[in-house]
Amino acid sequence: MFKIGNVEIKNNIVLAPMAGICNSAFRRIAKEFGCGLIVSEMVSDKAIFYGSKKTIDMLYMKEEERPISQQIFGSDKESFVYAAKYIEENMHPDIIDINMGCPVPKVAVSAQAGSALLKNPDKVYEIVKSVVETVSVPVTVKIRSGWDSNSINAVEIAKIVEKAGASAITVHGRTRAQGYSGNADWNIIKQVKENVKIPVIGNGDIKSCYDAKRMLEETNCDAVMIGRGVLGNPWLIKECLDYFEGKEITKPTNLEIINMVEKHLNYLLEFKEERVSILEMRTQIGYYLKGFNKEYKQKFMKIDNKKDFYDLLEELRNEYHD
Ligand SMILES: Cc1cc2nc3c(=O)[nH]c(=O)nc-3n(C[C@H](O)[C@H](O)[C@H](O)COP(=O)(O)O)c2cc1C
Repeated sequence: MFKIGNVEIKNNIVLAPMAGICNSAFRRIAKEFGCGLIVSEMVSDKAIFYGSKKTIDMLYMKEEERPISQQIFGSDKESFVYAAKYIEENMHPDIIDINMGCPVPKVAVSAQAGSALLKNPDKVYEIVKSVVETVSVPVTVKIRSGWDSNSINAVEIAKIVEKAGASAITVHGRTRAQGYSGNADWNIIKQVKENVKIPVIGNGDIKSCYDAKRMLEETNCDAVMIGRGVLGNPWLIKECLDYFEGKEITKPTNLEIINMVEKHLNYLLEFKEERVSILEMRTQIGYYLKGFNKEYKQKFMKIDNKKDFYDLLEELRNEYHD
């Protein structure tokens, strides 16, 4: 167990924020596997400022997801403050997280948000301090190791973030220039941990429970955050927790995977239209059915309603009934 501000996190596994993935449906599944803390997909401060319905709908969360952190990306203090306040008052998340890691050009170049903030330490201080002063819940920040290999400044940024009043920091051990390529540098996570007193969450390349344990041991971080490793494989969360406790690790059966696909769709249908939910499941199918006959994947891609989706799942169950 560790604490972020006054929020108790019951174990050291954190679900990474992932745009297009970490909505309420996937977060609930992660929670059911015992995930200590879940972070929602990022939302734009400006979109909230301008009252975009699409973005406000993205804030949907359920009580059972707690403790939950809502992530915001942006580039100026005023809209960050507005969005943080709006989210606190309307959604009551337990934590607000500030994105300083997103590498995509639309965010990091056009909007000068996400990882672009790493190039401007003064702005980092200003934004974090203003958000901390605005909301009553703990504020955390998620960073990369730096903008590029010539400007690795995670330790400097972490100290600034701590000074500005943040309650924890997540470090993804890649520069913005690396995107998602190469290996994450866990040594930078270790260095950050050695230089701040607030909890440090390590992130990058955890694909197994063994990786998770190794990151905790090698970096001394307080918790590990898992992103791509849980895509189509939320069982990894339980695997990590079981492994940490010395319990036997079990892999999901084909039937459990098929049932999880159905559950994922059902959870989506609780808050999204049928058409949108089915479209979203196309991405998820690609992750969940990696080890299955490719023909099924292609069939799912053509489906546009839930009845056909459930029928095809039944067909799958008949073929893979272990
Ligand atoms: C599809 C996808 C969407 C992502 N969206 C976000 C996001 O909204 N906010 C964020 O801070 N990071 C985002 N990330 C980065 C992850 O949170 C994480 O830092 C990165 O994937 C490295 O961790 P991993 O190796 O465990 O995947 C995203 C990553 C992926 C693959």
